[in-house]
Amino acid sequence: MALNRRYVFAQRPHGMPTGEEFELVEEAMPSPGRNQALIRSCYLSVDPYMRGRMREGPSYAPPWQVGESPTAGAVGRVEASDIVGLPVGSLVAGTWDWAEYVLSDGHGLRRLDPSGAPPQAALGVLGMPGLTAYFGTFDVARPRAGDTFVVSAAAGAVGSLAGQLAKQAGCRVVGIAGTKEKIDFLREELAFDAAVDYRAEGDLKGALRDACPTGVDAYFDNVGGAVTAAVAPLMNTHGRVAVCGQIATYNQTRREPPDVAWDLVGRRLRIEGFLVSDFQPRFAEALARLEHWVLSGRLRYRETIVEGFERMPEALVGLFKGSNFGKQVVKVYAP
Ligand SMILES: NC(=O)c1ccc[n+]([C@@H]2O[C@H](COP(=O)([O-])OP(=O)(O)OC[C@H]3O[C@@H](n4cnc5c(N)ncnc54)[C@H](OP(=O)(O)O)[C@@H]3O)[C@@H](O)[C@H]2O)c1
Repeated sequence: MALNRRYVFAQRPHGMPTGEEFELVEEAMPSPGRNQALIRSCYLSVDPYMRGRMREGPSYAPPWQVGESPTAGAVGRVEASDIVGLPVGSLVAGTWDWAEYVLSDGHGLRRLDPSGAPPQAALGVLGMPGLTAYFGTFDVARPRAGDTFVVSAAAGAVGSLAGQLAKQAGCRVVGIAGTKEKIDFLREELAFDAAVDYRAEGDLKGALRDACPTGVDAYFDNVGGAVTAAVAPLMNTHGRVAVCGQIATYNQTRREPPDVAWDLVGRRLRIEGFLVSDFQPRFAEALARLEHWVLSGRLRYRETIVEGFERMPEALVGLFKGSNFGKQVVKVYAP
């Protein structure tokens, strides 16, 4: 009998996850009933927000329950279907369990065009991270020509796109990332005006001051912590900070007060957190633009694809070590 494999969330981590929080189980292959489809996972996404879901307390998404399957952004192929308009062979994107096969009633699925971008792009540049970069940049950070725009986790899924969008808006873009390879990529392939390696710099504040000689007008913050503390004193009057994520704090075992000295009053700063889901009514418009920019070569993206369903936990943990370059996805099956 054909078997399905899925993960169960087995235990909550303390501090940095190890991967042992997830247990791989085998079970009978699910069989679709009326108005259901059987979907085979092709690519599964791992994302930093999943660390919040591993915690018992509240984060912006509900916690995963021990004993249940975690969920992920996913791309899959329809293997059997009793849903009108969803034929066998269709490629779809959605959110479902960490499993090789899942049942769906079709709700929340997005049909992908097989002649368009590679399907896994629906988890990155043409999916949630791309939308996050788009709205966080244009609606929250609001770049203006001539601004100095700084972005942290700049070689990651969101950061690499946010920096390019700000560049298109005429900004001087400075990226912050954690390896020499990432710094070279930002400077040479994405044509950022400067890039700073926060892990290698003994004097991060000084290196950022050199990279931003006229101060910082807009900061797209993906990390928080020491990196943001080093950017804060450089903010110019009426500067804007788009607080997208705080990955440097996600594995802290107790809440520590942020070590960031914003001169809010003197510099009249606007600091705004946001969630990509706030912009849901405009997703279609943004995806059409992002797709046009990708297909015309105006927007470049990078992916780190690890092969094998067994490597889901390892891929997730790698996000907190900087193992990924651009969007981290797991390839489960070639469609
Ligand atoms: N607000 C929203 O709606 C929304 C939506 C999506 C994502 N986010 C947030 O946006 C941020 C980026 O997400 P993403 O999906 O694009 O991930 P990503 O940047 O592709 O991957 C995470 C990167 O963070 C960096 N990092 C890890 N630990 C760090 C630390 N202690 N200090 C500094 N940098 C660290 C690593 O790069 P280095 O090698 O450079 O260290 C790593 O590659 C995350 O904070 C995430 O939670 C928010």
